[in-house]
Amino acid sequence: MKVAVASDHGGFPMKAQIVQLVQTLGHEVIELGAFELQPADDYPDFAAEIGTAIQQERAERGILLCGSGVGACVAANKLKGIRAGLCHDHYSAAQGVEHDDINVLCLGARVVGPAVVEDLVTAFVNAKYSGEERHQRRLEKVKALERSSD
Ligand code: RB5
Repeated sequence: MKVAVASDHGGFPMKAQIVQLVQTLGHEVIELGAFELQPADDYPDFAAEIGTAIQQERAERGILLCGSGVGACVAANKLKGIRAGLCHDHYSAAQGVEHDDINVLCLGARVVGPAVVEDLVTAFVNAKYSGEERHQRRLEKVKALERSSD
């Protein structure tokens, strides 16, 4: 699977770890910005990069970092076709994919440490959408909400 990874300055200290981990898990990383620590950079720019990569099918999923994960998640969810979840626990990182078909995992590098991040990223990347009728029904409703704001 192709996994895009992006971060603002708040997430930057954890970005290299995640790139390496996703590769170790056997997936191809599409590395997006930031490529250096720029304290004045803005998380919506990196949400846009990850959203575009998924919309253009250059990546199937994305991992988006900022300081708290909150801003990244808010911004990513503005983008068509993006279902981003801020998941700082294992259950949500896996279930967000299995039930809700999230395609972007948002993480706060100032909130969780390296061992927890490894667990979260592994859970997200290994999870598969169940496609069960009730989940698909809810997903269609989410997509209808997105269309209603066109
Ligand atoms: C940047 O300082 C910080 O505000 C940003 O990374 C993020 O935490 C926003 O939600």
